[in-house]
Parts: sequence; C-alpha cells; structure tokens
Amino acid sequence: MPRRGPLPPWTLVVLLQLVLVSSQVAGCLLSPCLEYLGTAAFYGLTSLKKLVLVETNITSLSDLPIGHLHTLQELNLGHNSIASLKLPKYFTNLTSLRHLSFLSNKITYISKGDLGVLGDVNRLNLTLVLSLNDIKCIEPGSFAGIHLGELVLRSSFANYSVMQKSLQGLTGLQVNRLIVGEFSNSQRLEDFQSGLLSGLCQVQMQEFVLICFRDFERDTDTLFNCIGNVSSIRLVNLELKEVSEVPMFSQVKQLECKTCKFKEVPAVKLSLFKELRVLRITKSKHLNSFRQKFESLSNLEVIDLSENRLSFTGCCSPQFRECPNLKHLNLSFNSDISVTGDFTNCHARITVKVVATFSKD
Ligand SMILES: *[C@@H]1O[C@H](CO)[C@@H](O)[C@H](O)[C@H]1NC(C)=O
Ligand SMILES: *[C@@H]1O[C@H](CO)[C@@H](O)[C@H](O)[C@H]1NC(C)=O
Ligand SMILES: *[C@@H]1O[C@H](CO)[C@@H](O)[C@H](O)[C@H]1NC(C)=O
Ligand SMILES: *[C@@H]1O[C@H](CO)[C@@H](O)[C@H](O)[C@H]1NC(C)=O
Ligand SMILES: *[C@@H]1O[C@H](CO)[C@@H](O)[C@H](O)[C@H]1NC(C)=O
Ligand SMILES: *[C@@H]1O[C@H](CO)[C@@H](O)[C@H](O)[C@H]1NC(C)=O
Repeated sequence: MPRRGPLPPWTLVVLLQLVLVSSQVAGCLLSPCLEYLGTAAFYGLTSLKKLVLVETNITSLSDLPIGHLHTLQELNLGHNSIASLKLPKYFTNLTSLRHLSFLSNKITYISKGDLGVLGDVNRLNLTLVLSLNDIKCIEPGSFAGIHLGELVLRSSFANYSVMQKSLQGLTGLQVNRLIVGEFSNSQRLEDFQSGLLSGLCQVQMQEFVLICFRDFERDTDTLFNCIGNVSSIRLVNLELKEVSEVPMFSQVKQLECKTCKFKEVPAVKLSLFKELRVLRITKSKHLNSFRQKFESLSNLEVIDLSENRLSFTGCCSPQFRECPNLKHLNLSFNSDISVTGDFTNCHARITVKVVATFSKD
C-alpha cells in the first residue's frame, strides 16, 4: 500500500504507538491542536496499534481522522470534552480495537443506536471505559445485542436514582466483566441502597466487580439479587460489614471480598453459595475472628484468607465440615495463628496446603 503523509516511511516501521497528551502538544501554535495536526495527521500510520489522545480538547468523534487505522487496538480519549458516545461509521473499520476509553469526558446521555457499529462487526473482547462521566440517562436498548469484553462505570453517576435508572438501561448487554462503583477519591454516591443493582437482572455477564462504596450499613440485603447467577463476583474496597442475603440456587463459583469490613469470617452465610469453588477474603484489617464453620461446600477448592488480622489457635478441621475438595488454604500474613494440622473431618484424600504463616504485627 503506498504511504502518504507527513512522516517518512521509516518512521512507520518503528512507530506502533503514538501518544499525544497536552504537555506534548502544548507547543502547538494553533489551537485546537488536532486541527493543526490536520486530517492527514495519521495518514501514513497504517500499522498504528495504540493512539493516546488524552487532554487534547476533543469535543467530538466525528472528525477524528482515524477511520483508516485498521490495526488500532487501543484508543484512549480520556480527559476530553466528548459529549456524545455516538460511534461514527468509521469505527466499523477499526476491527482490531480492544480498548476504548472515554474516561473523564462529558457524556451525559447514551441513546439507542449510539453503539450500533459495535453490533455490526464481530467484536468479541472490547473494553469500554465510561468512568468519570456525568451520565444522566442510558436509554434502554442502547446496549441491547452488544457484546463487550469489559464495561467500566466508576464514578459515572451523580446520585442513587440516576445510577439505578441508568443501570436499567443496560438491558440486553452481554459482557464478560462489568465493573461498577466509585473511585476512592471521587465518591459521588455516599451509600449503597436497596435496589441499586436491580437493572443487572437483564445483563448477561461472567464476572461482576463492585468497587469503592463507603456506606453499607443499611439495606445491603438486595446486593446479590441480580448477581446471584454470575459465576465470579469481586467486592473491592467496600465498607461491607456483613454478607448480604444469599439467593437460593446461587451459581457463584468465585467470590472475593478485598478490603471489606468483616470482623469475623462469615462462614455460615458463605456456605449458602453452594457452587463456590474459590473464596478469597483478603486485606481486611478488621477481620480477626474465625469461629464460624464452613459447611457442605462440596466444590470448594481454594480459600485465601491472607493479609487479614486473624488470630486463633486450633485450626482447621473444626472450621470445615464436608468440604471434601478443599485443596488450598492460605492463611499467610495474619496476626497470630497456630495450625494444629488436624483435618480429620475432611476426606482422607485431601491435601490442604497451609501456606507459611507470618506474623505481621
Ligand atoms: C484546550 O482548551 C483550553 C481552553 O480553551 C486551552 O486553555 C488549552 O490550551 C487547550 N489545550 C490544548 C491542548 O489545545
Ligand atoms: C475504511 O476502510 C476502507 C477500506 O480500507 C477505506 O476505503 C475507507 O476510506 C475507510 N473509512 C474511513 C472513514 O477512513
Ligand atoms: C479479553 O481481554 C482481556 C483484557 O484485555 C484479557 O485479559 C482476556 O484474556 C481477553 N480474552 C479473550 C478471550 O481474548
Ligand atoms: C440526582 O441527579 C439528577 C441529575 O443530576 C437530578 O436531576 C436529581 O434531582 C438528583 N436527585 C437527587 C435525589 O438528588
Ligand atoms: C438464577 O438461576 C436460577 C436457576 O438456574 C433461577 O431460578 C433464578 O431465577 C436465576 N436468578 C436470576 C437473578 O437470574
Ligand atoms: C498466599 O497469600 C499471599 C498473600 O496474599 C500471597 O503472596 C501468596 O502468593 C499466596 N500463596 C499461595 C500459594 O497462593
């Protein structure tokens, strides 16, 4: 293919990444800079894989001269003033795109058809980042029939009612991993209220991540209502003090609570997740007691309780009843644990690996 444009051909061989951030284009004499770069700006870059256009005052996608970048895998449009998520037709050309970030833009309304081009082409694994926008409404149907690898919505909504309604607009979405929540330094929603995630009953996903909610004191009992059949759930940096009600016949296979506020290993409630294979409760500085018993978790293979403040003597046989497949127990980095090594209640075949215990305090 003949190469045109302002850069000599040899540049193309080495230049697979192009990063334009404000500090680098601050020297532009004309403003806005992208106009200065002109519509021919990326013409020769037919092998470009990553394009970073952060803080470049872009207000609209329609004029970006990138429709010929067939090899582009990552497009980072963070910290601009893009108001519409309407993906222009040229996105159908970007068949290699895997990561598309609109972090910190001005997207307020997402309408049916905005993401239409993503439905047209076979895109199996695109990550779409919409965090730090001020989304007021997602029109139901906007995500219907769309398959994404990952969708990230952190600090994207002004308040509880806007978030709850907007999540209902995700109906029909299929996504491998959905990440919802806040940033710790940009928390707009103060607390988790009942029904916040009710819209997720209409979303098909493999993994759900809820991150950075401060206040969980009331109304946590609907937390699992619409995510009880997701195979993997990660709860990260939540001030969750108790495990919410576990739905009957839950399909959750992996559950992680990282930096939550449990004081005690909530083994009784967690034993209601009958399909559980991997359980991790880590980095919780309030977690010091392990008295409750895990019971009848026939698929449970891995428990990671590392980096808490657990303190007990006489582990671990009494804490696990009918957990015949438990193979790995990690108690590293806790306060004061003595392991008796007696696992008589468990099935004889098991090798439970208790990873070396280190005293941190
Ligand atoms: C973006 O716009 C602001 C305000 O109009 C201006 O001060 C700034 O220099 C512009 N930045 C770039 C990279 O063009
Ligand atoms: C999309 O790709 C086709 C085929 O390479 C090309 O003719 C067309 O100009 C591209 N579209 C845009 C908007 O660049
Ligand atoms: C999808 O993308 C994610 C993140 O980029 C990656 O970890 C994962 O392996 C990919 N999955 C497939 C099936 O390509
Ligand atoms: C939530 O935010 C929306 C949009 O910013 C606003 O119209 C509404 O009044 C707010 N509701 C509450 C309860 O604060
Ligand atoms: C989860 O699956 C069970 C049975 O497979 C079904 O009865 C239940 O309605 C499902 N729950 C949700 C929230 O989809
Ligand atoms: C146990 O947990 C510690 C701390 O999280 C981690 O570094 C280590 O890799 C884990 N060990 C195993 C065998 O998983």
